[in-house]
Amino acid sequence: MQINISRRQMLSQTVLGFGLLLLARGSLFAQSARRILSSVLAHDTQRPQFHFMPPSDWMNDPNGPIYFKGNYHMFYQYNPNMLQGWGPFAWGHAISTDMVHWKHLPVAIMPTKNGPDALGCWTGTAIVKDGSVYIVYTGISETDVGKGTVTIAIGDRPKVYCKESQCVAVSSDDLLLNWSKSAEALIDTTPDTAKRSGFRDPSWWKQGDVWYMTLGSGLSAPSKLAQLLLYRSSDFKRWEFVKVLTDSAQTLDLPSIAGYPEDNMWECPEFFPLGTKHVLICSTGGKNHWTSGIFNSVTLTFTPEKKGVIDYGCYYAAKTQLDSLGNRIIWGWIQERRPPEMYNDAGWAGVMSLPRILELNNQGELITRVSPEVNKLRKNSVSLDINQNEEKRSHQIRSLLVKNCSAEIKCFIKKTNEAFSFSIRGSVLGSDYKGHSKKIGSELWITFTYDPVYPDKIKINDKMLSLGEGIHDHLEFSVYVDGSVIEAFVNECVAFTKRVYFDAAKTPYTGIHYTGKTMNIIALDMWELDAITQNRLTD
Ligand code: FRU
Repeated sequence: MQINISRRQMLSQTVLGFGLLLLARGSLFAQSARRILSSVLAHDTQRPQFHFMPPSDWMNDPNGPIYFKGNYHMFYQYNPNMLQGWGPFAWGHAISTDMVHWKHLPVAIMPTKNGPDALGCWTGTAIVKDGSVYIVYTGISETDVGKGTVTIAIGDRPKVYCKESQCVAVSSDDLLLNWSKSAEALIDTTPDTAKRSGFRDPSWWKQGDVWYMTLGSGLSAPSKLAQLLLYRSSDFKRWEFVKVLTDSAQTLDLPSIAGYPEDNMWECPEFFPLGTKHVLICSTGGKNHWTSGIFNSVTLTFTPEKKGVIDYGCYYAAKTQLDSLGNRIIWGWIQERRPPEMYNDAGWAGVMSLPRILELNNQGELITRVSPEVNKLRKNSVSLDINQNEEKRSHQIRSLLVKNCSAEIKCFIKKTNEAFSFSIRGSVLGSDYKGHSKKIGSELWITFTYDPVYPDKIKINDKMLSLGEGIHDHLEFSVYVDGSVIEAFVNECVAFTKRVYFDAAKTPYTGIHYTGKTMNIIALDMWELDAITQNRLTD
């Protein structure tokens, strides 16, 4: 069974009390009342092997990813006591030299009793300022009944009304291990008396001598508008509300290559230059959206031109950063699609997407490809021998298999007037009468279907998706399979993340199922990908 709980629904569900506050830095995992043993988690074959995730428990949004002094830092919304319910979120922390191999570090920031973040340190952005790393994040604290911009339920208490304030923390040591938080919020409350659907998830940049900050917000019914609020400051202390930089009314009628519904709150918005244009990303209506357009930095005006969806699957709350080469990298939260009782039993939930490079194509559409850093995990490749006839190729395709449910598959197919389908499958093992393992069949995990009647579209499972306005004379499928996670890309224009909770013990091989003329296949390569740790990142 698949369930689809949006982040906003989750926020109004049960939240754990103050257990988190009791946890000492560095001994985070010692004090939990009930915990799944790391050794059990390390053998859970549904846990990925080359995707980042916390050692256990709940993760949602990536927070403030940053490259600093030779290291990539990943922070994330973390509830280290998931088994006891929803927690006031802390910022989990991990470090890497290549965005692929990660090491967990102690929690970076956590709620402060009676502080503006007493009920949670929510999503935010990190930036280097005066040689130190500053994070600006949203602090959650209880307010009077009927007031505030969000409600959450804590432990077995009924929902409480909460205020969202923008808070700051700073770290100056090389590994960003020590953080000091300002007792006062940078921006304490909303800019006006409007009834807002949220006021959170700051993102910021410096232009000349002035700091700019954007915040996700929106108006509650009857207006129901999502908004991007713009603030500025010249001393980083006093922040002035400038204006609504853009809103969902402005982007509503833009040519869209997606056509997915939005709602009246833009979560985790970010606004950044890309090529010759600017891009706004935000999470709304259960999907991560992008809008590209022109920003006039003098008049502070954004003219949106095109929009679309970053990933059509279970991918949300994305954040970006620049890598060491200046590429714009995007990270997204890969959500669970299994019921809470199942992930509670498993003792973990949430995975980070692979690092993806963002670019705009000539049509001003956002395109994504996995960072080449991930290629270094490739081993044991198998390829289709293309010097074969139709029949031999079909036979070969059926026998191309990669072990360990840890695979990358790349396939180029010529676009002709012939339909085809291309599926990723797992071979299912059984045993013969002597108890020997035997292949007994396969299950299809994800299917791409091309129909020449719709030459600019690709169907993924049952969803017909646009490839955009670019010219595509072949289709390039790039698929990563990792435990229960599948990340798939078609021509860099369509991304689709899927969760597949198969029984990996019985399904140890990844393969291909192809219908159509195999002579149209230009290349088909598969690799096993190396695990980034030997224990599925449990320590
Ligand atoms: C998105 C979000 C953010 C918020 C955070 C809280 O998933 O709802 O808007 O800051 O999660 O965990």
